[in-house]
Amino acid sequence: MKGLILSGGKGSRLYPITYTNAKQLVPVANKPVLFRVIEAIRDAGITDIGVVIGDTGPQIREAVGDGSRWGVQITYIQQEAPLGLAHAVKISRDFLGDERFVMFLGDNVIEGGISPLIRQFADSDWNCQIVLTEVDEPQHYGVAELDEEGRIVRLEEKPRQPRSNLALVGIYMFDHHVFEAVEAIQPSWRGELEITDAIQWLIDAGYRVYPYIHRGWWIDTGKPIDMLEANNRVLEELTPHIEGVVSPDSEVKGRVIIEKGAEIIDSVIRGPAIIGEETKVVNAYIGPYTSIYHHCHIERCEIEHCIVLEHSRIVDVPHRIEDSLIGRNVEITRSRVKPRAYKMTLGDNSKVGLL
Ligand code: G1P
Repeated sequence: MKGLILSGGKGSRLYPITYTNAKQLVPVANKPVLFRVIEAIRDAGITDIGVVIGDTGPQIREAVGDGSRWGVQITYIQQEAPLGLAHAVKISRDFLGDERFVMFLGDNVIEGGISPLIRQFADSDWNCQIVLTEVDEPQHYGVAELDEEGRIVRLEEKPRQPRSNLALVGIYMFDHHVFEAVEAIQPSWRGELEITDAIQWLIDAGYRVYPYIHRGWWIDTGKPIDMLEANNRVLEELTPHIEGVVSPDSEVKGRVIIEKGAEIIDSVIRGPAIIGEETKVVNAYIGPYTSIYHHCHIERCEIEHCIVLEHSRIVDVPHRIEDSLIGRNVEITRSRVKPRAYKMTLGDNSKVGLL
């Protein structure tokens, strides 16, 4: 089997973070979501992986390279515009050939990997398998209606009145018959070739399409709140270890990872949390569900339930920072220059919540 990862898209719901960074490269528990996707596919025994890229292609190429770091081989496929998931399949035909493949959205994070799924599909004579999971707001997803025997009756993309709470997770398995489907369908109201329509076409044409109900957690990391939620879930699963230095006057409690070259001085870290390489935490409190990426400086402040990206400096902040997604090279400090006022340089679409 081959793998196909979709890694285009603007990530506009994650502005301003995604002005300068592809959304798939935003880290969850200090590892870009896209790297987690590559590892999930590799762990399922697939090493030939195509990555569909868009405007952020150069960044993705630079971060991922040829895949040798993971023992896989990456082929890049350029999509000239975000014309839909089924369009991405269409342009990947040369890469995929006649092999069965798994398609995985590069911004999805799922509990437990995909090995069981892949095994089931690889050994079957099914033409397509989709992954479904129960969600609270199905109208934001592709939604499946099943009959009493659990067979798929109908799929609908973002229906106003969903017929079930079973959403299509961004993981799909196909054989080469999907190419007939993506050629046959028409763009949706949003101008995209929808993969949901392609799968419905396969069902209508009598192909064997089966569902797999995923029972664990799954997060489509579209918005900052989703990134934080994915971060919570992944942090809860990590195996704690300390490679950096923790001074004797510090306290590290619970599921905590201190990466290589990190220094914790006179501070309290309460897990689950991760402190990245070469990051310095001095006289500070890092609370549960926090990921501080590499080369940050955190001093005399309290941070909880946050993701802080690389090379940021947070020093002397009088109130606790919570529920925040803080970008790269960000500085939050106390100004000593009079008059006493908030002095900010914020990117477009930044959000600041003051006390
Ligand atoms: C896409 C699919 C949708 C699926 C979702 C999962 O939506 O079209 O069926 O439920 O991914 O993340 P999009 O992210 O393009 O809105």
